[in-house]
Amino acid sequence: MSTPRLEIKNIVKSFGGRRVVDDLSLSVMPGKVTCLLGPSGCGKSSTLRIIAGVEMQDSGTIHVDGALVCDTVFRVPPEARSIGLMFQDFALFPHLSVGENVAFGLRGDKGARERVKELLQKVGMSRYIDDYPHQLSGGEQQRVALARALAPRPRMMLMDEPFSGLDDRLRDDIRDETLEVLKGEGTAVLLVTHEPGEAMRMADEIALMRDGKIVQQGAPYNIYNTPVDLKAAAFFSDINVIKGKVEGALTDTPFGQFLAPGVPNGTEVDIVIRPQHLKIDFDRAGRGPNPTAVDGTPARGVVERARFIGASSLITFRMDYDGSFLQASVPSVFLPKPGTPLWIMIRRDRCFVFPRR
Ligand SMILES: Nc1ncnc2c1ncn2[C@@H]1O[C@H](COP(=O)(O)OP(=O)(O)OP(=O)(O)O)[C@@H](O)[C@H]1O
Ligand SMILES: [Mg+2]
Repeated sequence: MSTPRLEIKNIVKSFGGRRVVDDLSLSVMPGKVTCLLGPSGCGKSSTLRIIAGVEMQDSGTIHVDGALVCDTVFRVPPEARSIGLMFQDFALFPHLSVGENVAFGLRGDKGARERVKELLQKVGMSRYIDDYPHQLSGGEQQRVALARALAPRPRMMLMDEPFSGLDDRLRDDIRDETLEVLKGEGTAVLLVTHEPGEAMRMADEIALMRDGKIVQQGAPYNIYNTPVDLKAAAFFSDINVIKGKVEGALTDTPFGQFLAPGVPNGTEVDIVIRPQHLKIDFDRAGRGPNPTAVDGTPARGVVERARFIGASSLITFRMDYDGSFLQASVPSVFLPKPGTPLWIMIRRDRCFVFPRR
């Protein structure tokens, strides 16, 4: 296996007695985009600042390409770490032109002019080379900032919510362009975001962070489809929770029995399912469809609310069995009236069973 571009081990950082980064380990492979994803305040920016070297960890080590960059005794200064930075409030130097901004980190190196031209070309900003930052839109400034960060060919890029200052449509475009440029340069990237959509769109690998710890790490597909716990599932989408209790490694629900392997008798469990994995069927004089192996037993509910939200409709049911609510996302051609009785089935292969916390 090749050496990680970045490897941080057992990083701890406390502020005022509170562990903000709590024994965090993470590696980023060359040419890969890893997203540090988590809710506000979970310690993402603190982690990034420690890697950049502008903040000092209490304990733990940082290696770049296998070489020690920082432990609690030895410390390579930030500017010597070969790390490019891009933060939300990235600031271009207002008194320097676009070309001079991009050249800034090159310090008159041989070939600097060519490198500046090459990068401005890559980010589509060649014709602005002599303009000043105040003459550019937010998106254009962002592109220049990317070129500037990449100019010295950093071994890795640290990006902290770099797109959050941009409006939605522009953000999608810039995100995709940025990714293309980063991939083209082969730079390893650690990108911080609190938006699951952004992480799934950008990342080769997502490290899901909570309370200073990484709770799950993997490819977007795996993290989304096999969450470690209810909170991890809920972080990526709305969820429904069906309550159950385990007897003999099985739990009984109105939708049939679910396997709960290795879960002790009497344990209360949450069966978690996303709204798009509920199926609905018509009520035929109080009867629903027959149970199947894929969808289990249908349970009846009454439409409480149905909202049209574009490509889909979001329907809230009040369930007959206990009066609880379940949400289903269905194609928007379907928009039933409140009070309509319908049968609901759940895709059994899309359910997650977690012991209740
Ligand atoms: N210099 C500091 N002094 C004291 N507390 C700090 C300091 N820096 C960060 N914190 C605290 O550490 C916690 C984590 O902060 P951090 O900025 O790393 O969160 P974050 O995950 O980046 O959140 P956000 O998504 O809101 O940017 C917060 O509770 C914050 O108040
Ligand atoms: Mg932050």
